[in-house]
Amino acid sequence: MPNRIHVAFVAGLLATAVFGIAQTNVQVKQVPVNPTSAASGKLMYQNYCIVCHGADGKGDGPAAVALKDQPTDLTMLAKNNGGKFPDDRVYTVLQFGVETPAHGTKDMPIWGPALRSLAKGSSAADMQEHQRIANLTMYLKSLQQM
Ligand code: HEC
Repeated sequence: MPNRIHVAFVAGLLATAVFGIAQTNVQVKQVPVNPTSAASGKLMYQNYCIVCHGADGKGDGPAAVALKDQPTDLTMLAKNNGGKFPDDRVYTVLQFGVETPAHGTKDMPIWGPALRSLAKGSSAADMQEHQRIANLTMYLKSLQQM
C-alpha cells in the first residue's frame, strides 16, 4: 500500500508528520505532543494545528479528509461572529474542547491537558497553560479575514 498518508497526532492530540503524498488513504494517529516555545502562537499553531486546519487556517490541512467533522475555517471566526473575534470562546474551546455534539464525538482535540503536560508538573504549569492558550488565541486573531 504505497499511497498512504500517515498523519500523526498528539497524546492530548496533536498532529504532525505527513509521510508522502497520497490520494485517498489517510490515517490519523496520536503521538506525544512535542515541546514548543510557549511564547510563540505561530510556532504552536504550526506544530499542533496545521495538520487539520491548514497552513493558512482555512481548514484544509492534510488530515482534514480523514475527519468526520470538517475543521473550522479559522480565518472566518470574526466574520462569523458579527465582525468581532470571539476571544473568550476560542480560549475556552482550546482549553476544554468544543461543546458536546448532539451526535457522536468531535474530531477537534482538547488542548488544555496536552499543553499543560509540556510544563511537566512544574509549579508554573497553570501559568504556562494559560500563556500557551492565550498566545494561540492571539495568533488565530491575526489570521482573521474581514
Ligand atoms: C485532528 C484535527 C484537529 C487538530 C489537530 C486541531 N483541530 Fe481545531 N478543529 C477541528 C475540527 C474537526 C473542528 C470542528 C469542530 C466542530 O465540529 O465544531 C475544529 C474546530 C476548531 C475551532 C472552532 C471552534 C468553534 O466552534 O468555535 C477552533 C478555534 C480550533 N479548532 C482551533 C484549533 C487550534 C488552535 C488547534 C491547534 C492547537 C487545533 N484547532 C487543532 C480539528 C482539529
